[in-house]
Amino acid sequence: MADARQAPAGDFDYEAHGAGYINRRQPDPRIAAIVHAALGDARTVINVGAGAGSYEPLDRYVVAVEPSAAMRAQRPHHLAPALDATAEHLPFDDNSFDAAMAMITIHQWSDVDAGLRELRRVSRGPVAILTFDADALLDFWMNEYAPEVTATERARFPTIDHVAGVLGGEIETIKVPIPIDCTDGFGEAYYARPEAFLEADVRAAQSGWVLTDPDAVARGVAKLADELSSGRWDERHGYLRSQPERVGAVRLVVAR
Ligand SMILES: C[S@@+](CC[C@H](N)C(=O)[O-])C[C@H]1O[C@@H](n2cnc3c(N)ncnc32)[C@H](O)[C@@H]1O
Repeated sequence: MADARQAPAGDFDYEAHGAGYINRRQPDPRIAAIVHAALGDARTVINVGAGAGSYEPLDRYVVAVEPSAAMRAQRPHHLAPALDATAEHLPFDDNSFDAAMAMITIHQWSDVDAGLRELRRVSRGPVAILTFDADALLDFWMNEYAPEVTATERARFPTIDHVAGVLGGEIETIKVPIPIDCTDGFGEAYYARPEAFLEADVRAAQSGWVLTDPDAVARGVAKLADELSSGRWDERHGYLRSQPERVGAVRLVVAR
């Protein structure tokens, strides 16, 4: 295996913190179906910031690009190996692929605009970006417990309008519903399972928690634990435990 990079390609060090990613971050099949529909009839697809391969379609020719060795190492064997490169410098000619995708990754890039322009450049068809609407994150109940984590996240995500503006062309923004048993363990995936946030490995698979001041994290987790045991969380949010899906901050931006 090639040496790890001198420094992470994004704002999160997966060499230090990424080893258990796939334990908690499996692609959700219902979200995958929405992503795959957005790719249309593309036969060749580039997946940038591919990580362990979540949301890569199995019925098309996929080239994955992933700068972290720790993440490449977690790709399951039924997927092709990923190329070590970054979004900002894709080693492909213009219009090389029928479609491009980037899933829950753009908020980490060192130069989002450059990366988005690269995706646009190498795709002759749709560009599909799975990301979060930073403003909508304020509506998630976690903001009452760990507002510092929400603030960390909000500072990282480019606005949906910004992403759309850089990509250009005809834009469709899909509000992606989050299923109650979502298998991709980003924060809102646990909207109906608040106890999950008491588990360190759940939080470790969400970069926002790792990038936030540990004292603030400890305070938030303690407050949540307290309100779960007192019943206060359920008084206020318990209806979510049986709500089949929730439209939160997840957005699929498709530029055609
Ligand atoms: C939250 S993970 C998402 C991985 C995968 N797409 C998924 O949905 O599970 C973010 C990924 O973006 C990658 N990344 C960070 N900076 C990058 C950059 N500048 N170019 C390409 N990928 C980058 C990280 O190495 C990491 O694998």
